[in-house]
Amino acid sequence: MKPVLSMREVWVEFRLATGSPRVKKSVHALRGVNFDVFEREVYGIVGASGSGKSTLLKVIMGFIKPSMGTIEIDGINLLKVDRETRKSIIKKIGYVSQNPLTAVDPRFKVKDIIAEPLKAAGVPKSDIVKILPTLIEAVGLTPEVMELLPYELSLGMLQRVVIARAIAAKPRVLLLDEPTSALDSVTQSHITVLLRELRELFGYTSVLVSHDLRVVSRLADKLAIMLAGLILEEGLVADVLNRPLHPYTQALIDSLKLKEMKEVLVADPRVCPYYTNCTQRLEEKCRVLPPLVELSNTRKVRCWLYA
Ligand SMILES: Nc1ncnc2c1ncn2[C@@H]1O[C@H](COP(=O)(O)OP(=O)(O)O)[C@@H](O)[C@H]1O
Ligand code: SF4
Ligand SMILES: [Mg+2]
Repeated sequence: MKPVLSMREVWVEFRLATGSPRVKKSVHALRGVNFDVFEREVYGIVGASGSGKSTLLKVIMGFIKPSMGTIEIDGINLLKVDRETRKSIIKKIGYVSQNPLTAVDPRFKVKDIIAEPLKAAGVPKSDIVKILPTLIEAVGLTPEVMELLPYELSLGMLQRVVIARAIAAKPRVLLLDEPTSALDSVTQSHITVLLRELRELFGYTSVLVSHDLRVVSRLADKLAIMLAGLILEEGLVADVLNRPLHPYTQALIDSLKLKEMKEVLVADPRVCPYYTNCTQRLEEKCRVLPPLVELSNTRKVRCWLYA
């Protein structure tokens, strides 16, 4: 079986302004990211703030250019094709960004926001009028909402609109960036339920990233744990939750709360990023970054305890 989406050795480096042309500083937001997402699979990525989750989705959307690597959709490398081909492939990706407030044009009515990808896909106006009520209903909104402007909606309703827009044109891949993190806890669980229902209804292929392990565990088939731009562990959700291998994953599951990046990150990119906090570290060995080792078809881990 071939993957729908595939990333190989994707690196992203941001140059930081230092105030001096002679002093060069940079952040590696992604450090050789590799993963595959298969048809109708939801690939979940959990990572603390700053671990590179949004960058990973933005790089697929073409908003950020990687310094190295390949990103393939249905076997086509997005970084090697011409602009027009890339644009037409990206049109088939649904994207829900981190903040619903900045995701929409405040001057557009709900019906126009949701219709955007349909128009872009060349769907005739007469068909759009028929599709819109179905979409509105699918995301749990009522038809009156169509005539409203974004400021007239609650944050939860707006997120439903953003999700309706993302699924409107039946995307080949759906990218969800922290779809619940801007919402209060009740609305968070409503949106999680909605995403589960939509998945059952449409069976989408998706990448879902969040700092919240609980949200990702409820929605994903596979789970990857990310820290400092690196995937530290990958496996089927139940396997990772029931038998976490990486010490960082173990700590995450124990606390079910991600620690702030500042507390755990090791500045030296040659060292395991979890070195400072790891209770199982092997003093000398772990000063070298371990490779991501494939333990089985469905399990990978980046830790010297398993290499
Ligand atoms: N445009 C940018 N310029 C400089 N650094 C950036 C930029 N975007 C992200 N970063 C840095 O890259 C790292 C990953 O950021 P991000 O992908 O937003 O993380 P997450 O979504 O997991 O919180 C962070 O260290 C962040 O500060
Ligand atoms: S490589 Fe070493 S420091 Fe890093 S998580 Fe594994 S045991 Fe801990
Ligand atoms: Mg983010």
